Amino acid sequence: MSFMRIIFLCYHILVCLSEISLALDSISQDLSLSDDGENTTLVSKDGTFELGFFTPGNSQKRYLGIWYRKIPVQTVVWVANRLNPINDSSGILRMNSSTGDLVLTQKGTVLWSTTSSRKPESPVALLLDSGNLVVRDEKDASADAYLWQSFDYPTDTFLPEMKFGWDLRTGLHRRLTAWKSPDDPSPSDFSFGMVLNNYPEAYMMKGDQKLYRSGPWNGLHSSGSPQVKANPIYDFKFVSNKDELYYTYSLKNSSVISRLVLNATTSVRRRYVWIESKQRWEVYTSVPLDLCDSYSLCGANANCVISDSPVCQCLEGFKPKSPQAWSSMDWSHGCVRNRELSCENKHNDGFIKLTELKTPDTTRSWLDQTIELEECRAKCLDNCSCMAYANSDIIGQGSGCAMWFGDLIDIRQFAAGGQDVYVRMDASEFEHQNMDHKKGGVVVAVTVSSAVALIAGILMILGWCYRKKSHDSVKERSNLSIKSNQNSGIQVDDIDLPVFGLSTIAKATGNFTIKNKIGEGGFGPVYRGTLADGLEIAVKRLSTSSGQGLTEFKNEVKLIAKLQHRNLVKLLGCCLEGEEKMLVYEYMLNGSLDSFIFDQQRSELLDWSKRFNIICGIAKGILYLHQDSRLRIIHRDLKASNVLLDSELNPKISDFGMAKIFGIDQNEGNTRRIVGTYGYMAPEYATDGLFSVKSDVFSFGVLLMEIISGKRSRGYYNQNHSQNLIGHAWKLWKEGKPLELVDKSMGDSSFLSQILHCIHVSLLCVQQNPEDRPGMSSVLLMLVSELELPEPKRPGFFGKYSAEADSSTSKQQLCTTNEITITLLEAR
Ligand SMILES: *[C@@H]1O[C@H](CO)[C@@H](O)[C@H](O)[C@H]1NC(C)=O
Ligand SMILES: *[C@@H]1O[C@H](CO)[C@@H](O)[C@H](O)[C@H]1NC(C)=O
Ligand SMILES: *[C@@H]1O[C@H](CO)[C@@H](O)[C@H](O)[C@H]1NC(C)=O
Ligand SMILES: *[C@@H]1O[C@H](CO)[C@@H](O)[C@H](O)[C@H]1NC(C)=O
Ligand SMILES: *[C@@H]1O[C@H](CO)[C@@H](O)[C@H](O)[C@H]1NC(C)=O
Ligand SMILES: *[C@@H]1O[C@H](CO)[C@@H](O)[C@H](O)[C@H]1NC(C)=O
Repeated sequence: MSFMRIIFLCYHILVCLSEISLALDSISQDLSLSDDGENTTLVSKDGTFELGFFTPGNSQKRYLGIWYRKIPVQTVVWVANRLNPINDSSGILRMNSSTGDLVLTQKGTVLWSTTSSRKPESPVALLLDSGNLVVRDEKDASADAYLWQSFDYPTDTFLPEMKFGWDLRTGLHRRLTAWKSPDDPSPSDFSFGMVLNNYPEAYMMKGDQKLYRSGPWNGLHSSGSPQVKANPIYDFKFVSNKDELYYTYSLKNSSVISRLVLNATTSVRRRYVWIESKQRWEVYTSVPLDLCDSYSLCGANANCVISDSPVCQCLEGFKPKSPQAWSSMDWSHGCVRNRELSCENKHNDGFIKLTELKTPDTTRSWLDQTIELEECRAKCLDNCSCMAYANSDIIGQGSGCAMWFGDLIDIRQFAAGGQDVYVRMDASEFEHQNMDHKKGGVVVAVTVSSAVALIAGILMILGWCYRKKSHDSVKERSNLSIKSNQNSGIQVDDIDLPVFGLSTIAKATGNFTIKNKIGEGGFGPVYRGTLADGLEIAVKRLSTSSGQGLTEFKNEVKLIAKLQHRNLVKLLGCCLEGEEKMLVYEYMLNGSLDSFIFDQQRSELLDWSKRFNIICGIAKGILYLHQDSRLRIIHRDLKASNVLLDSELNPKISDFGMAKIFGIDQNEGNTRRIVGTYGYMAPEYATDGLFSVKSDVFSFGVLLMEIISGKRSRGYYNQNHSQNLIGHAWKLWKEGKPLELVDKSMGDSSFLSQILHCIHVSLLCVQQNPEDRPGMSSVLLMLVSELELPEPKRPGFFGKYSAEADSSTSKQQLCTTNEITITLLEAR
């Protein structure tokens, strides 16, 4: 061997060694992956994914699979030999260079192999950064011309960029099949796949039994998932043409990790998001989500309304097939028509419009995307087995035509985001319609004789009114009780406000002993007390500088006492003696919200659903204060310590109307005396003393952020970025990682999409410009519905307060005043 040759070999070995330490990223002719050899894994270029051998759960077997390389919790996203496990560590993965197939063998026995679509010259297998294992021909210039790819054969996981659906040219069906158990990746009978009905949709199946149906794509989302909408985490789309039909999604920021997984144990398909700060996967969304998602829970021709009790209702014009079974909540027999249709009279039939629906099962359906609703109706009317029609695309005014034949199966109603469906009815249904017994419906088509048309016209108006009413009542049931709040304003007649004697109060509070002091607000100390009859009270002893006369003061207190709402702390009376002014409130067992959310232990008591209940309660309370026509109250000092929790953790706002009581409420909305708390104050209020309902909305937005994050707006400064909580939230939002804001102590929440929605709402509330902020009624509506929200603009008080405050005088003052409540630029 010549000297030169030795040097060359050494060089080669060195190069190889260095490559080994970098890990393989491709397998070609001369390379192999072996479970016990030198090259055990293949790593994608950016290091996100790794292909290799693994042992699932408590199994003894080895499998070839792909997992996230950087995630400490082993998360396998794809398995090659699901059916043929390896019982030792002798598995080897090789490339057969003549066929271009990747072949997995155990001691010479082939356990699994790919099938290349054509014969390559120089095949190479690569693990892409998307987690897709592909085989391509190095000689083939087009990078995407794969001979084979693992994304065509998903297991239980639907990764970003995968196509869920059909390649119609080859008949390839990409669907999900769950593992049998965490120890056994072999395919269970639990699957989720797109079905090529005329109007295609996806079904979740257990064997041949349907468990859940996605609903067909309606241009915006699957008909059954109005909650899936534009969001900062991922984009999604549905593609349907003559070659392909699939659903896919992609991550907005590749540093966010998200996947969809089908799980046979829980019988759900979940979207998970990796939360870096918590080092764990959290559930973002789940289907099926609730009872009404159970396939055909209510049987044929019925509607599932989750906020109704019972949830199942026959469709308009239908009655229970078996009334007895129906009334005992066995809905499986479904509903039948009040009046049978007759094919001879088909052209006399009409349609009833049902709104906010998940469209029926499309197994027997027909689709024409080129025709409009009017033609759709005519086509449906003409075929007497057509039972319903709808726009197939609901974007804008709606377009396209879908028709349903036979029984209408698996319909549900949403509070918002559902679609209109027109259901066929015999003409007599309209003539004899007894509005008292019908749920909402609009007669959209009745025919021929003008007499019938006239009746129809009248009924249409009646129907519309009725539908409005019924719709409102649905809203009501789903906690959208905005209307009722608005209307339950203060009564006209004066109420007598109980006046407590000083001695009574002193006795109740143990002579204002320090032991009974439960708080110190900006307006004075608060004491706990017990009246002689056992009633527990909270007494606010106002600091004396009210600047108001006694009568004036009493009048204001009387007014405030009339504000009654379940989310406001009830004012029981007052005490006025000598210099003393005191307000007597109902006592709240659980103290204030800040003692929960900012406390490491107690914050764990508030899971997301409790927090959401608190958020909505606060919003309702503020809305009541804002919208009460006779006494519009701007709170001006909303903060976590001013939200009290009753024994069932229902929130009650306290300290409302204090500005009024202190005689500093001015109509012009500009006060020289500023009441409020750092970190909650809207910029225009803190710097210019301009207050409005929108400054309360700002404070509410901050409060919302605190409830979600468990961090104080004021005390929180991100070390690296010198931002307050708002600034931090804004930064995370802009980076596409808003979920990093979520409180770690909230535990395993299955509501990340709802939490994200709330973060979005909070950012809309804290926008710099008051006019951009939504009003409180919109805020409440946004919170409880899954409506699509506008992109938030830059928030106010982005950085440290001092950096943002404009006027130098107020800047000075803002930076030096005390912690709790500040009073600036006193006028008098
Ligand atoms: C391991 O990888 C190196 C190149 O990275 C290659 O030279 C070597 O042959 C491989 N070993 C096996 C057993 O495939
Ligand atoms: C592994 O499986 C092979 C073939 O099925 C069998 O011959 C062998 O004994 C098994 N080895 C072990 C360790 O179970
Ligand atoms: C490659 O596959 C062909 C066809 O299956 C087979 O005849 C051949 O032996 C394989 N080559 C290797 C190196 O395994
Ligand atoms: C299915 O979900 C359960 C509960 O979350 C989990 O323990 C189990 O590991 C999951 N199964 C698989 C195959 O991942
Ligand atoms: C009505 O539609 C069904 C389903 O598409 C079809 O089978 C039937 O032939 C149609 N009937 C008429 C009279 O067009
Ligand atoms: C994505 O996240 C990274 C890392 O957190 C961040 O630096 C980057 O700005 C984000 N990209 C975009 C487009 O927001």
